[in-house]
Amino acid sequence: MSIEIPQLPKGTRDFYPEAQRIQNYIFDTWRKTAEEFAYEEYEGPMFEHLELYTGKSGEEIVSQLYNFVDKGDRAIALRPEMTPTLARLVIQKARELKKPFKWFSMPRLFRYEKAQKGRLREFFQLNMDIIGTESIYAEADLMAAIATMLRKFGLKDGDFAIGVSSRKLLATYLEEIGAPNPALVYPVLDRRLKIGPEAFAKALADAGLSEEQVAKLDAFMSCKSIEEVQASVHSEAATAALAEIQDLFATLAAAGYGECVNLDLSIVRGLAYYTGIVFEVFDKGKSMRAIAGGGRYDSLTEKLGGDRIPGVGFGMGDVVLADLLREHGLLPNPKQSVDFYIASFTNDMKKIFEAAQLFRGASVNGKSASVSHPLAAMKMGKQLDQANYQGAKIVVYVDGDKAQAGEFEYKDLRDGTMHVGNIEAIKAAL
Ligand code: HAM
Repeated sequence: MSIEIPQLPKGTRDFYPEAQRIQNYIFDTWRKTAEEFAYEEYEGPMFEHLELYTGKSGEEIVSQLYNFVDKGDRAIALRPEMTPTLARLVIQKARELKKPFKWFSMPRLFRYEKAQKGRLREFFQLNMDIIGTESIYAEADLMAAIATMLRKFGLKDGDFAIGVSSRKLLATYLEEIGAPNPALVYPVLDRRLKIGPEAFAKALADAGLSEEQVAKLDAFMSCKSIEEVQASVHSEAATAALAEIQDLFATLAAAGYGECVNLDLSIVRGLAYYTGIVFEVFDKGKSMRAIAGGGRYDSLTEKLGGDRIPGVGFGMGDVVLADLLREHGLLPNPKQSVDFYIASFTNDMKKIFEAAQLFRGASVNGKSASVSHPLAAMKMGKQLDQANYQGAKIVVYVDGDKAQAGEFEYKDLRDGTMHVGNIEAIKAAL
């Protein structure tokens, strides 16, 4: 009788050590940048009560939920995004938390999406958020962190762009042209470029907009500069929203990020809770899905039953980012590498374990040295094969006859040369 081999669920990934090494490189760079910008790390559960998302996150994400009823008859959902969990954390300690504060997290998320390039059913997402301020410099801080992070990964300013838009600006424009309920219109506007002009016009007509209103909106969303927008908006609120964007761009330019941001009013974002600036990060040719997306959500805590506490932040997924880095040849070598491989001519396992312990305690570049050794008696040729396979830099022989007490014979595998020295000299040779 044949047994079927279990299959990997659609839209999920296995991380064999080589793939995990690349994941860790991404996680390390995310964490390092977030910490450099003084964000503090937090976490939450991987599943929440379903109602945390329904009615708050927007239809699209709710239709993509992985949800189930648990044994206690509770409606549960695997988290599709981190922002509602963050809002819950903030509400629970609203009084104690000293605002504003900057937090980051690197959650594993789940969305029942059609698995395709750049979109999986399980992925990781860096979240950076600033809670408790309405200042536009919070947006500036987040965008500076995004640009710094992408530069750290080796991308050039020309390789990516942070497109910035504003729901405040869009809302005032919708009001100016007399369009109905923005909440109904946003999801359509978000799909404008994906669905094409005809379907766009039809969906807006269904939402109650006239042909003239659709044409005006289309022209507005195509504006590429602040000057162009200025010519088409007249209200005080719109002028204020534009001034905010101008201030944001000037601040980022002063810090050397001027080339990384641009106005892009075609960005609306699918999530329902955004209230102000919204932004998305794309590769320069926009040939891939968004690398990151975020925005300001000043009333989410209120929608969830808490006080009104403003927030702004973004999520950057690991999938599109890794695709982009791979395309630019910027992913690290996925092969294993160890500092020392401890070998023995006489298969003296006790001496091997003793020396391995000594070298493991050694610090190399501030990190504990990585050390490997044979796990069973084997010929020297086999030991060297293993050392090479594991990417060892130096092979240390525990019983070389040229070594005095406190010294070891060692071979530098990078150039094949043999030497004798004590542990300090061997460390220095790395
Ligand atoms: P989002 O636009 O839904 O925003 O996701 C942000 C990023 O997560 C996307 O640009 C993409 O890189 C990645 N992503 C989303 N869905 C998938 C998927 N199915 N597979 C792979 N990657 C994906 C949010 O999630 C907001 N909660 C972000 C936020 C934080 N806003 C404020 N703070």
